[in-house]
Amino acid sequence: MSNAGHSQASGQLPTIDFRPDLHDEAESWSVDQLREHQLERLQWSVRHAYENVPHYHASFDAAGVHPDELTELSDLARFPFTTKADLRENYPFGMFAVPRDQVVRVHASSGTTGRPTVVGYTKADITTWARVFARSLRAAGVRPGDLLQNSYGYGLFTGGLGAHYGAEELGCTVVPMSGGQTEKQIQLIQDFQPRAIMVTPSYFLAVLDQMELQGIDPRESSLEIGVFGAEPWTEAMRQEIQERAGMHATDIFGLSEVMGPGVAQECVETKDGLHIWEDHFYPEVVNPLTGEPVREGQVGELVFTSLSKEAMPVVRYRTRDLTKLLPGTARPGMRRMEKVTGRTDDLMIVRGVNVYPTQIEEIVLALDGLTPHFQCVLTRPGRMDELTIRIEAQPDVQEHQYDHLAMVVQHEVKNRIGTTAKVQVGGPETIERSVGKARRIVDQRPRD
Ligand code: DLL
Repeated sequence: MSNAGHSQASGQLPTIDFRPDLHDEAESWSVDQLREHQLERLQWSVRHAYENVPHYHASFDAAGVHPDELTELSDLARFPFTTKADLRENYPFGMFAVPRDQVVRVHASSGTTGRPTVVGYTKADITTWARVFARSLRAAGVRPGDLLQNSYGYGLFTGGLGAHYGAEELGCTVVPMSGGQTEKQIQLIQDFQPRAIMVTPSYFLAVLDQMELQGIDPRESSLEIGVFGAEPWTEAMRQEIQERAGMHATDIFGLSEVMGPGVAQECVETKDGLHIWEDHFYPEVVNPLTGEPVREGQVGELVFTSLSKEAMPVVRYRTRDLTKLLPGTARPGMRRMEKVTGRTDDLMIVRGVNVYPTQIEEIVLALDGLTPHFQCVLTRPGRMDELTIRIEAQPDVQEHQYDHLAMVVQHEVKNRIGTTAKVQVGGPETIERSVGKARRIVDQRPRD
């Protein structure tokens, strides 16, 4: 597809053709049609897990539930949760529901400690994944024939290969760039003229910085669409990227245990949260402390049950991601999830107040003179945790202004979040850049 619709005028974003006749069948289902399909698939999936994975057999038996009792969607709430610890205990292949020789690919996510979490896919799973990822790309505004730069990391991480197969499935030309080599990223953007890029938002910022440093205006580039995910990012970050790069910034969500990227995707025409591809992934939101379902529209921990996965079905998998469910809009049959505000793992409790890195991101982006490159350093000098926020200033800010900026941030943190944090503002390149997921929290507390 050409870049004919690409407008360079300031504040204007490229025009995207998003006719509904581009949707696939499931995207046009009514809620009733979807629920009927989900119940049928859920009954299959839960039975498949019970009959073929010893872990599920034992955990269902222990909870006194049986797949036969699943006669309505709401019955699912009686089944036990699955956690990351369950996957670790069954390392490496114990959660597979098919013989290992039917698994055509494995991926793994490296935990911060201990064993990685391993996931597997049959040939049919890879096809399903490619199709739902292709659907995500279409929702983002990408079209067959587009050239796409894939800057998600290739390898054990699901981002690279997941996005790659999805883009090929849609009929795009994929540039398998992977993460890193920022100068090369820019050269390929300049020379190949991709219409879309798939990358973590934090690394894309590093690419934009480098472009600007080289005197290239990102607004003049061929890029019209970004498919950004793998880490939490805010509305403020969307505005920052859209303004700096003159392109649409859409959000893609997923996790290896449930499949990988492409579980949910924001539609470019609305950018109002991510439509969950509910024909394959059944969502619930629960209170992270009690495990009870929250009231409709309340924030809690997102839980997924896979509906079609063969190699590694998951039943009520606790994602640790915090969000809420909303009714469908651009795809009326499918519910949306609000942009993820944080993970239960990323919760920092500072002087009794809950703080997530996304709250800091919003504050930093609202202030002139600061960049979105920041880190939250946690220490415990006495009995209480202390938070130090380290932020990089814009290159044109003078050193003597750093202290003032730090004071402003400290004030905003106190006002908006309600806690006291130390703030340090530093010069360019003082905060580490990641080529994938940004490390927002640096935990220097003593291990007890
Ligand atoms: O990050 C899969 C992925 C790749 C998604 C590329 C999107 C794009 P994992 O490494 O298993 O898989 O990490 C999953 O990352 O539970 C969230 O905490 C976080 N995450 C992923 N996408 C988003 C997003 C991939 N759009 C974990 N917003 C998830 C916020 C996200 N957090």
